[in-house]
Parts: sequence; C-alpha cells; structure tokens
Amino acid sequence: MNDHAQAPAPAQPVGLLLSTVRYEERRILSELERREIATVRMDPRTMSFAPENVARLSGMTVLNREISSQRAALTAESLEAFGAHPLNDATSTRLCGNKWSTYLRLTQHGVPTPLTMLAPSPETGKKAIESLGYPAVVKPLSASWGNRVSLITDSYAADAVLEHCAALPSAVLRTVIVQEAVQPGNPDIRGIVVDGRCLGAIVRSSSDWRNNVARGASVAQHPPSEEIDRLCVRAASAVGARIAGVDLVESADGGHLVLEVNSRVEFQGFESVTGVDVAAAIVETCVSETADVKEPV
Ligand SMILES: Nc1ncnc2c1ncn2[C@@H]1O[C@H](COP(=O)(O)OP(=O)(O)O)[C@@H](O)[C@H]1O
Ligand SMILES: [Mg+2]
Repeated sequence: MNDHAQAPAPAQPVGLLLSTVRYEERRILSELERREIATVRMDPRTMSFAPENVARLSGMTVLNREISSQRAALTAESLEAFGAHPLNDATSTRLCGNKWSTYLRLTQHGVPTPLTMLAPSPETGKKAIESLGYPAVVKPLSASWGNRVSLITDSYAADAVLEHCAALPSAVLRTVIVQEAVQPGNPDIRGIVVDGRCLGAIVRSSSDWRNNVARGASVAQHPPSEEIDRLCVRAASAVGARIAGVDLVESADGGHLVLEVNSRVEFQGFESVTGVDVAAAIVETCVSETADVKEPV
C-alpha cells in the first residue's frame, strides 16, 4: 500500500497525543513501529507543562489524535508555546473545533458552504430559522459524530430544540448555529486531505439523515472527481489544516458545499473502501515535518 517515497526515520522522536486508542490510532502506531520511528505517547489528561517537563518538547513534531476537541485545542496551543510542532497546528485545531469559526474561514476563502447564521439566543435562532425556511439545521458550535445536529422541520420543533439549547449550562453550549438544510437525508461525502493532496473521497449513506459513520452510515468509494478533490484541498487550506477530513453535501443543482473540516480525522470507513493507506500518509507528513525542523543556531 506504500507506493510513495518515504523519508528516512527522523533522529528525534515523534510525539503522539492521545487519550483513547481507536482504529485510527492503532493504524498510526503500527505504521510508526513498522518504520521504526521512535514515538513518545502523550496523554493530554496528564500534561501540566511543569517547567521540568517542557524542555524535551522543543522542536518535537506531535501528531494530535486527542479525541476531545477542547483538550486537543488547548494542548496544541500549549505545545506550540513550548516550541513543539503539533500537527495540525493550534490555530487550525481550534478553527476546526468550532463550526462557526470554520464557516467564517470557509466563506472568507470563497469555499462554498451552506448559508449559516450564529444564534446566541433562542430568539435569534428562531429568526434565523424562519428566514431560512423549513427544514433548517441547528448545530452546536463544537461537537462530533452528528451529536446534537438537529433537523428542524417546523416551528414547534424549532421552539423545542432552541428551548433545550437555552437550558444548557454555559454560554458556549447555549450558542448554536442555524444552517440551510441541503437535501437532508441524501448521502454525503467525506474527503481526506494530507499535505495539500486529496487522498480520495467516500460516499456515506445512512437511515439517519446524519451520515456519520459513528451513527452506522455505510460507505462506498466516491468516483474520482476533480471538483471534490479541489474543494477538499481548498477547505483544508482555508482552515490551515495539513491533515483534514472534509465533509460535503451535494446541492440540488449538482454542486457541492463543504459542511466542516475535521482536524483529527477518523478514517476507518475511508480505508476500508478505498484501500488508501491514510495512516502511512499521516506518518509521512510527521516525518517530513520533523526533518524540516531546523536546529537552532
Ligand atoms: N446543512 C446540512 N444539510 C444537509 N445535511 C447536513 C447538514 N448539516 C449536517 N448534515 C448531515 O449531518 C451530518 C453531521 O453534520 P456535521 O456538520 O458534519 O457535524 P459533525 O461534526 O457532528 O459530524 C453530516 O455529515 C450530514 O450528513
Ligand atoms: Mg461531520
């Protein structure tokens, strides 16, 4: 499966940030082992960045596979401050962890994405939904696997969902986005980008309107498409992600819109149908990043 040129194993160990070992982390760990790359596992739940522990971080490339998006963003920021090179970097990890911030970046970079509005209160949310018309989509700022992504089919459902959001215990949780629904219930597309190259795309279909693999969506290979490849690369670049899972939907006119960019992409479904070795591409990026790090003069 490894048909691309490989850089030699770096002299310095590669860091692997994680608190949970899933399929993806097992694949990455076995690729690191296969290439005999010294690896330091780091668990963000135990990292306090105490003065006696931070020296070894300087110059280290750290692949961020932390499952919690808050911990991933905070740890990436801390790693950068102590001279390490998290992949993805701290800014892109933070942007990808917030659907509103992602939307702003996508639109600023001219990447097509469904019309989205911010709803810091139920009143604002209701106005936004009514301006888009039914059905509309309500999403939390930060969540994964389709959690709390709601299809609002009528005014009663809008009131109920917004009321529930308003009862949540923090301003960040109470704030949601309201988004145009794009052919909800149709399959969607997931592309994977590593270092500016789209490795391919899959189609995800589910009996749930949310086509997350974590919700049981089935996957199939998407036929090669320059348009999808280009959109995925542009979306990853808009948020500065070197490693990215890009979710897209097809609009009624046959065009495609980017929903979000995942900075710590899950790729089990993708590898199973495409045969593309995503773990190898990710590890290669870590190795080349490590090789690129210049010794201080
Ligand atoms: N605006 C939308 N129009 C149609 N389907 C959507 C829309 N937003 C989300 N979905 C469906 O819900 C799934 C989850 O939404 P997404 O924004 O990717 O959030 P998550 O981070 O939870 O995966 C998408 O993969 C897609 O199938
Ligand atoms: Mg998604």
